[in-house]
Amino acid sequence: MIRFEGVSFGYVKGRESIRDLNFHIEKGEFTALIGANGAGKSTISRLTNGLLHPTAGHVYLNGKDTLTTPSSKLAKDCGFLFQNPDRQICENTVKDELAFSMKVQGWPKDKIEERVKAAMEIFDLKPDWFPFSRSRGERQRIALAGVLACEPELLILDEPTTGLDYLECTRIMDYVTELNREKGITVLMVSHDMELVQSYAKRVLVLNNGVLMGDGPTEDVMKNTPLLKSARVLPAQIPELALRFGDTFRDIYTVDDMFAALAAKNKAEQEGGNV
Ligand SMILES: Nc1ncnc2c1ncn2[C@@H]1O[C@H](COP(=O)(O)OP(=O)(O)OP(=O)(O)O)[C@@H](O)[C@H]1O
Ligand SMILES: [Mg+2]
Repeated sequence: MIRFEGVSFGYVKGRESIRDLNFHIEKGEFTALIGANGAGKSTISRLTNGLLHPTAGHVYLNGKDTLTTPSSKLAKDCGFLFQNPDRQICENTVKDELAFSMKVQGWPKDKIEERVKAAMEIFDLKPDWFPFSRSRGERQRIALAGVLACEPELLILDEPTTGLDYLECTRIMDYVTELNREKGITVLMVSHDMELVQSYAKRVLVLNNGVLMGDGPTEDVMKNTPLLKSARVLPAQIPELALRFGDTFRDIYTVDDMFAALAAKNKAEQEGGNV
């Protein structure tokens, strides 16, 4: 689905923001891209959908080289949710906003109407709402609904839950997860929020100063505190706590596991034994 082959990129001549990047994401994966501020996460997102072109190497989206494929063609395969919904929303009503990308892509009118209606139901939106006067969570839902109405094969989410409360965050992420599981949509999610990454992603790419430092199943990467620290990323709370508690807690990763381990330790202490 996404293939980076020896990709380098610099916004400024002589200063590379991405250096010799190689990775491959298969169709149907749910991958998170993590790294400190300025690591190059958004740049990778923009290289993937062809908004930026590599200065060395090649990026392939669904087998198409982004250097030689017009971005309008790439856009059909790749839905992109900006970090800030206000940079995405451009119409004055929800129904026009949801139809916008499909119109640009030349979808037939009846299909557009059908998809807009379905998206409004799924995301609990009203057709005549003025998007800019809605709450942050609603604007994020409007933007995501517009992206998903086009049924992209790949969904790129750049910090999808910034500024959302817990309920809005869960609502949006659960829907994305359902699409990933049920329809096989490939998801690439950029996030600073390790709890979010731990809860939803199956694989994690770790980036530091434009270089890929780690790539593996979420659980392995989240437990690898030295790797996260070297990439200047704060570990999720439970693995970090487990590390502080010492060797006995080494493999603890979830709240449930931590709860069980603490209960077991407590019981053993009460019985006068050691864990
Ligand atoms: N338009 C631009 N012009 C020049 N340099 C840029 C531009 N956009 C990003 N950069 C630089 O490229 C590097 C990578 O930036 P990028 O935005 O991809 O990082 P990021 O990992 O998304 O960071 P953040 O977590 O802050 O969103 C940084 O050094 C940044 O300063
Ligand atoms: Mg960014």
